[in-house]
Amino acid sequence: MTDAPDTPRHPAADVALDRIIAHRGASRAAPENTLAAFRAAIAAGVRTVEFDVSLLGDGTPVLHHDAALDRCTDGRGPLSAIGAADLAGIDAGAWFSPNFAGERIPQLGEALDLLGGAGLTANLEMKPHGADPEPLVQAVLAAMDARPGMAERIVVSSFDAGALAALRARAPAQALAMLYKEPPADWRERLSALGIGALHMRHTALTPEHLAEARAAGIALRVFTVNDPAGLVPLRLPGLDGVITDVPRRFLDDPGWAAWAGR
Ligand code: G3P
Ligand code: MG
Repeated sequence: MTDAPDTPRHPAADVALDRIIAHRGASRAAPENTLAAFRAAIAAGVRTVEFDVSLLGDGTPVLHHDAALDRCTDGRGPLSAIGAADLAGIDAGAWFSPNFAGERIPQLGEALDLLGGAGLTANLEMKPHGADPEPLVQAVLAAMDARPGMAERIVVSSFDAGALAALRARAPAQALAMLYKEPPADWRERLSALGIGALHMRHTALTPEHLAEARAAGIALRVFTVNDPAGLVPLRLPGLDGVITDVPRRFLDDPGWAAWAGR
């Protein structure tokens, strides 16, 4: 098996993401989208983390998946109702385990500093939650631009095509990925229209045709969220460039997947 694609990669296809990517940090080992989850990923040997970025009401970009605080913190209500000054009073760890009590919702800058210091690469997922994506895009770009070399470590993704278009308009060379639960039939045209070089899709929707089409088009293809290494062995094929998983250690401990990832 060769890993070389049939077509040269799109110029904005990719940065050198590892093939085993920790989803929301190592989110089975620590509360998702926290610095503790990043540290757990690093301790597990992970080299690339995925995380979600949402805006607070005052425009501060933070790591948070949902539009509301309720599921992953002891706060209640929408993120849009709070600002950076409120973060110190919100616990983002105790819901997961008492061992993580006191963990905070990280600001994007803190997360970038941690991953940059540890030499990680990342998949930053923009979550505009249906709002105008422009403020989120500008906040993401500002945080990356404030850290020399950071943008080159990051693939920015979103389910929101408008957010990706807005980012592409401001950052012509930024590596981007389009997220789909199930890609539409014209997914290649949609990526091409925005100069997007990577497709991230739900693993249960993946077909050999997706792999072949991505490979032929020089598109990086990664799947989420995969937590069963044994069940996915048939997908360990040319054309698959990454697995986004809550349990990276399971993949790193599996000799077949470790070899696939070049470990
Ligand atoms: O980026 C892959 C995956 O994180 C997308 O879904 O809902 O877990 O952010 P979600
Ligand atoms: Mg995500």
